[in-house]
Amino acid sequence: MLDKTKRGWWKSAVFYQIYPKSFQDTNGDGVGDIPGIISRLDYLEQLGIDGIWLSPVYESPQEDNGYDISDYEAIYPPFGTMEDMEKLIREAEKRGISIIMDLVLNHTSDEHRWFQEARKSRDNPYHDFYVWRDGRPDCPPNDMRGVFGGSAWTYVPHLGQYYFHQFAAKQPDLNWDNPAVREALYQMIRFWAGKGVGGFRLDVIDQIAKVPDEKITANGPRLHEFLRELSEKAFVREGLVSVGEAWSADVERAKQFSNPDGSELSMVFQFEHICLDQKGEKWDVIPLHLPALKRCFDRWQRGLHNCGWNSLFMDNHDLPRIVSRWGNDGAYRVESAKMLAAMLHGMQGTPYIYQGEELGMTNIRLPIDQYVDLEIKNLYQERTARGVPEEEVLRSIYARGRDNARTPMQWTDGDQAGFSDVRPWLPVNPNYKTVNAAAALEDPDSTFYFYQKLIALRKQYPIFQDGSFTLLLPEDEQIFAYRRDTEKEHLLVVCNFTPDTIPFDRPAEFENARLLLSNYEQGTGPLRPYEAQIYYLSEETQ
Ligand code: GLC
Ligand code: CA
Repeated sequence: MLDKTKRGWWKSAVFYQIYPKSFQDTNGDGVGDIPGIISRLDYLEQLGIDGIWLSPVYESPQEDNGYDISDYEAIYPPFGTMEDMEKLIREAEKRGISIIMDLVLNHTSDEHRWFQEARKSRDNPYHDFYVWRDGRPDCPPNDMRGVFGGSAWTYVPHLGQYYFHQFAAKQPDLNWDNPAVREALYQMIRFWAGKGVGGFRLDVIDQIAKVPDEKITANGPRLHEFLRELSEKAFVREGLVSVGEAWSADVERAKQFSNPDGSELSMVFQFEHICLDQKGEKWDVIPLHLPALKRCFDRWQRGLHNCGWNSLFMDNHDLPRIVSRWGNDGAYRVESAKMLAAMLHGMQGTPYIYQGEELGMTNIRLPIDQYVDLEIKNLYQERTARGVPEEEVLRSIYARGRDNARTPMQWTDGDQAGFSDVRPWLPVNPNYKTVNAAAALEDPDSTFYFYQKLIALRKQYPIFQDGSFTLLLPEDEQIFAYRRDTEKEHLLVVCNFTPDTIPFDRPAEFENARLLLSNYEQGTGPLRPYEAQIYYLSEETQ
């Protein structure tokens, strides 16, 4: 168990993301719930994780699955009660697992009491909690678009004003320029800190300082000032970890966000690697060019070494399943899932595993009317209305739709994959008969145990946390290889990104190195399909 009183404990931690709606249903309504999470804590303890990033469980009309909060200090009843939440925090703690709550500070639901008040009149004390501009109907302040489609402005006739929303119209943006907004949010964070949560994942945190008149959404002029205040006034409690979602972050900005002096955040999720296999919009998919991926990780690994901290992830609730994306979800599903895990977990940073990633769960294809995500629905409508052929739109959805990651967790080969007794809110992936946790736990060669070993290695060998990073073979289009070094220890990570057998010569120095982990039986020949190897060398034991 990690000593969480130690400053920076999260640097040797591995986190696991739970999307509550899809994790485990216990009361037969087809929707996952907090008692369901509690019932699976032993499984997570067995995996070896140190913290759970819990996607939002707050009271919400669920327009955007909880990323539209209508009461920050209440639990969405289908997920459970405040007592359930307190029990989850306690039960997790017993197993050395911290709860990292997802927190949306950029916007609320339009059903939040603050917004209900704000829209009553211009002189309501809560009016200035949101971002308003005067205007006439049909003539929004500017042409900014919401992330989920449509204008970013919605008109309220009795006020003669538009409010600003970067996401759906039901997600009005909070006005961070108003000190009363910031104070109310800090107070709420202290409420949760008092309940014993270990920290927060901060939704679209780079957007809070938006200036819509100048069409600035990310990295507004006061962003770092706000973050420093947030850190000082809300995260002061020793050891509260914070990870910010920052789609706009480049290395320079991430250094500031994750400055080791702790003045802003512990770390950020950046998305440069995630955007490499698309052309412009995420829906316009292009093949991944391996050298580009390697250059990207190389830049981030070297860029933040000793002056910031990386979050390592490939999957989350907004992204397609990685094995379907960069691996092979057919004949080499298991091999490629393990290879991708080795590639990522060998690096410096805090790894995040998204529920089901440890089982090699894959994407799904549904008929259009079975999708639930509003982003998918809006895309389908907008593109088909524009005359884009249906097959083309569906191809984008199959490759990138957020519901790929949101299908229920596959626990067993029984009905509804053991997720629920009834038809769940989103269909179970039909491959649950073979891809499920029960089968994985029975099979010593499963992806589950591979992740378990990666997590254990990170705890056992400090070089995973501290070592410098050097990319090998930068131009090679098939192999991703890198080394990690400290003064006395060395790691070599070698990954074959293809279904082909590829010759590879280990650097001479690693000739007698110990193989710490591989997804194949030890061999001396060329790399087998999707083979991954991690070698270790210590000058002391030679
Ligand atoms: C983040 C969340 C996503 C949500 C959006 C708006 O990107 O991860 O799920 O839709 O913010 O809150
Ligand atoms: Ca339920």
